[in-house]
Amino acid sequence: MMEVAEKVVFDKVNINLYSKKNPVEVPVLENKIITSGKSPNFIRHITFDVSGTLLENNIVCGQSIGVLPPGFDHKGKPHKLRLYSVSSPSKGEDGNGKLYSTTVKRLIDENWNSGDLFTGVCSNYLASLKPGDTVRLTGPSGKRFLLPKNATDFNYVFFATGTGIAPFRGMVKELFDKGMTNDVVLIFGCPYRTDFLYEDYFNSIANKYSNFNYLVCVSREEKRRDGSPNYVQCKLIDESPLLNPILEKENTLVYICGLKGMEYDIYRNLAVQGFDSYLNFKKQMDANPANWSWKDIKSNVKPAERVFVETY
Ligand code: FAD
Ligand code: A2P
Repeated sequence: MMEVAEKVVFDKVNINLYSKKNPVEVPVLENKIITSGKSPNFIRHITFDVSGTLLENNIVCGQSIGVLPPGFDHKGKPHKLRLYSVSSPSKGEDGNGKLYSTTVKRLIDENWNSGDLFTGVCSNYLASLKPGDTVRLTGPSGKRFLLPKNATDFNYVFFATGTGIAPFRGMVKELFDKGMTNDVVLIFGCPYRTDFLYEDYFNSIANKYSNFNYLVCVSREEKRRDGSPNYVQCKLIDESPLLNPILEKENTLVYICGLKGMEYDIYRNLAVQGFDSYLNFKKQMDANPANWSWKDIKSNVKPAERVFVETY
């Protein structure tokens, strides 16, 4: 194990092998729902067959792919590209770099303005694809939300809300396939117990390896003692006996993926626990981090070298 903090270095990865102007068309191999029957949320695990394309063996876990949905927007322009994190390890679902998956939540709501049904263009297009249908992809994209070189030399604390779990499925698979012996903590937040994603897989790793901890926060079914919702960032306080000894190590990295809202609270709670070394400050903040407002955090607190963020 490292004695001092090692600089976080990434292997060079390929990006933009396919662009918006030059996408690749690949078939869907599988599209299955992964929220359970009674969930009000529809989240799907979708697998693409990229064999014979430049994407074969060229997507690294943590990267995203771009999807070009067919059709036109209300201005008559082709629909814009949307990004989706890959949920497979770098070797793909098949171990040969031919099959890669993503995890897509149908965006369904009432329109904020009109009150009519609002259905997101690309998520619903993807979620309705059938095996054999083809889809236009770009990418891969992303150069920093990756596992570092010598990935098993580090410890990890992963924070995920909803489909933010996608890259961590790939990363956890990758780390334990490589014989990970350092600590990995995955903290996952979802609205209901029906919305656990890849739960069997993460439980199986937790049962097999004592250095993997899988913590869940069910926001709409659990309350903390003060009545506030149980969000992922609360684990920094509520699970400090588990997390603090890991966060104290100089070779621990923090990754955050999912809703933007969690980011600022994670920074505040890291500071509350005394882990300022994970943060960079543009200006001096109140000595008591519990008093920091989101506005202050947004303008003055940035993730430092050991923190990686992909929020949307
Ligand atoms: P759109 O048709 O684009 O609608 C969304 C837009 O409509 C937003 O601009 C929003 O402001 C607006 N809107 C939303 N709700 C309403 C409403 N009720 N009334 C009116 N307007 C509204 N998503 C995943 O599911 N899985 C992933 O793994 C994933 N990874 C991502 C990785 C990255 C790096 C990024 C940037 C995003 C990722 N996303 C992921 C999000 C994804 O790219 C899309 O933004 C998401 O699927 C919604 O796209 P859509 O086309 O369905 O919705
Ligand atoms: P809630 O919606 O109950 O407020 P999904 O994307 O599938 O909806 O899951 C996102 C999860 O993240 C939900 O449990 C949601 O809770 C939770 N969440 C919402 N806002 C925040 C926030 N600011 N910090 C952390 N978690 C959040």
